[in-house]
Amino acid sequence: MSFKIQPASPAQPNRCQLFGPGSRPAIFEKMAASEADVINLDLEDSVSPADKSEARANVIKAVNEIDWGSKTLSVRINGLDTEFWYRDVVDLLEQTNDRLDQIMIPKVGNAGDIYAVDALVSAIELGKQAEKAINFEVIIETAAGLAHVEEIAAASPRMNAMSLGAADYAASMGMQTTGIGGTQENYYMLTPDGQKHWSDPWHAPIVAIVAACRTHGLLPVDGPFGDFSDDAGYTAQARRSATLGMVGKWAIHPKQIALANEVFTPSAAQITEAREILAAMEQAKAEGQGATVYKGRLVDIASIKQAEVIVRQAELIK
Ligand code: COA
Ligand code: MG
Repeated sequence: MSFKIQPASPAQPNRCQLFGPGSRPAIFEKMAASEADVINLDLEDSVSPADKSEARANVIKAVNEIDWGSKTLSVRINGLDTEFWYRDVVDLLEQTNDRLDQIMIPKVGNAGDIYAVDALVSAIELGKQAEKAINFEVIIETAAGLAHVEEIAAASPRMNAMSLGAADYAASMGMQTTGIGGTQENYYMLTPDGQKHWSDPWHAPIVAIVAACRTHGLLPVDGPFGDFSDDAGYTAQARRSATLGMVGKWAIHPKQIALANEVFTPSAAQITEAREILAAMEQAKAEGQGATVYKGRLVDIASIKQAEVIVRQAELIK
């Protein structure tokens, strides 16, 4: 028990984050016209080293010139272990207007990484007398990132969201898989009668990220699902993440946007049930009770909080 009240997460729709390589400007307008809540223009691993400066210039032009509507606009910079990242930050912030909402920092390992980017961003914002403070989102995708997930979440008031990056995470952890998210062939239990019972190898980092985010008022987000021909696999992974408390998932192909929006938008049935639980508890309260029965099952004061999560999410999206 803690006397500290858990901070609210940002009231910002974040059901789907659509990625596109900064080296492919032909798709930027399509990204802006999509149904994704968040746009991530990428300067990192979808851009080859030879194309880094051209991609940076493309992205700066796109931030300034494309109408991104009410979307959250984010650019993924290069990792702090490269020669590219400081130039990404300096050029992006110095050469764009106030439209950019956040930068995504990949492969963060500890709070010091956030401090370093924060110092650079703060100096540039001071210098240009910026009216708006850039937010940060990070990817937890290394062993160090997972080990230090909570200090990273707490590292700066700019922190807004955290994503799980399954591919780099798997590599850093030495996991025997080349799959990006989803069911893994060798990750199963055997039932007593010898049937394979599939488990979720991404469960542990997802829970760690959700806990760090909820403790510090950030948005926990599930990252990429690589096989964009597998709609059912994407949806299953997204449902598991949603059940564990994540608010959205990346799309690395436009066909994944509708899948994410479907999973992370509370359904009419979920909203009705949540409202009915709240009404049942109102009535219980009027009768001086802290607990009551709804559809044959116990609901109590904790149920109000659970139902409010769904109602709040529905209202935010509406
Ligand atoms: N955003 C918006 N539109 C996209 C898009 C994206 N990320 N990726 C493809 N499209 C468009 C294509 O231009 C095409 O449009 P058209 O119908 O007008 O011609 C349509 O969607 C279908 O594209 P498709 O041919 O199926 O895919 P592709 O072979 O052109 O590209 C990928 C496939 C995976 C290479 C591409 O989707 C991509 O680069 N994704 C993002 C990768 C990334 O950013 N990774 C970093 C995070 S992990
Ligand atoms: Mg990565």
